[in-house]
Amino acid sequence: MANLAISGLRKNYGTVEVIHGLDLTIEDGEFISLIGESGCGKSTLLRMIAGLEDISAGTISVNDRVINDVEPKNRDMAMVFQNYALYPHLTVAENMGFSLKLRNVEKAQIKTAVGEVAEMLNLTPYLDRLPRALSGGQRQRVAMGRAIVRRPQVFLFDEPLSNLDAKLRVQMRVEIRALQRRLGTTSIYVTHDQMEAMTMSDRIVILNKGRIEQVGSPLELYDRPANLFVATFIGSPAMNIFQAIVERGEGGTHLRIGSARFRLPPQFDIGKDATVTVGIRPEHFEVSEPAGAAGEDKLDFRLELIEPTGAETHLYGAAAGQMVTVAVRDRLSFRTPAQLSLSARPEHIHLFREKDGTRLGTL
Ligand SMILES: Nc1ncnc2c1ncn2[C@@H]1O[C@H](COP(=O)(O)OP(=O)(O)O)[C@@H](O)[C@H]1O
Ligand SMILES: [Mg+2]
Repeated sequence: MANLAISGLRKNYGTVEVIHGLDLTIEDGEFISLIGESGCGKSTLLRMIAGLEDISAGTISVNDRVINDVEPKNRDMAMVFQNYALYPHLTVAENMGFSLKLRNVEKAQIKTAVGEVAEMLNLTPYLDRLPRALSGGQRQRVAMGRAIVRRPQVFLFDEPLSNLDAKLRVQMRVEIRALQRRLGTTSIYVTHDQMEAMTMSDRIVILNKGRIEQVGSPLELYDRPANLFVATFIGSPAMNIFQAIVERGEGGTHLRIGSARFRLPPQFDIGKDATVTVGIRPEHFEVSEPAGAAGEDKLDFRLELIEPTGAETHLYGAAAGQMVTVAVRDRLSFRTPAQLSLSARPEHIHLFREKDGTRLGTL
């Protein structure tokens, strides 16, 4: 049983601060991912939780007890690294049992514990092998096994699947998630792979330059991103962003994007802004041939390139004077270039405040 509370957490290396006062609570049994671009502070945060980095300010608590000064080995957390960090001269069984041996657990007991975990991870046939005689995926399983054998209160993962090929990564993410559910161990999982974060997590923390942009369930982040950063970070291909011109007139306020004009519902307070940022995800566009009399809310689209991916078709082209990406389920076969129209339902048109990128809602 372990819940974590991080409060006002800061980290500086010399005069450079890289974590800027972070607050986060993690529930017992939760699987939470930290994602963000390289250098945003994911590993630093994880290492501070593990006790491998000093805390410059703030506190980290486990079950309401501040652990800032607790030695790493007494934190009851197990970390799994990207590079596996196995002992090359020890067998799989010895690697997995190493931490128990350090604690002077009896041999027979270690054997039972290692045997159980090896069974869980399909490693039983390999127990006597050295790491170099294993595939990448098997080594990663041994690293997992070594963490599980200790039955820690918290698992900490730092990009554990980054060295594996794409197919194995998908398989391992399913296995890790299933194991975590079964063991019920609170887990913090660092990745730069948003698909990993989206598919595995109860909640995701989006980090940007040492600050939290948003914390939420995968679909909350996708459907209701707090700001432009999150909106363009989550989702692939990325959300299309337009600068819409605000047109105030007798018939109410409208937003103009190229040839399209949308009515702005009165509940949106955009003050005196002359432009508003609008975001539409590639998969939320509907494509049509241009009608003789184009509807008011249709965007002229000059299709330049079609990319079939199998499950989806990606269309690239120009609309409202910029590059736009559209993703559709059908296998469209237009000859390029083609002149088309794009439309989107109001609930898929996101508005962001001009000055700070805060999301205001959908039309
Ligand atoms: N030991 C260190 N000394 C100085 N700067 C560091 C050290 N470790 C990390 N940093 C800096 O802290 C920032 C966050 O790094 P890191 O946590 O490794 O990012 P991430 O894991 O998200 O890629 C980066 O700017 C990095 O250069
Ligand atoms: Mg890192």
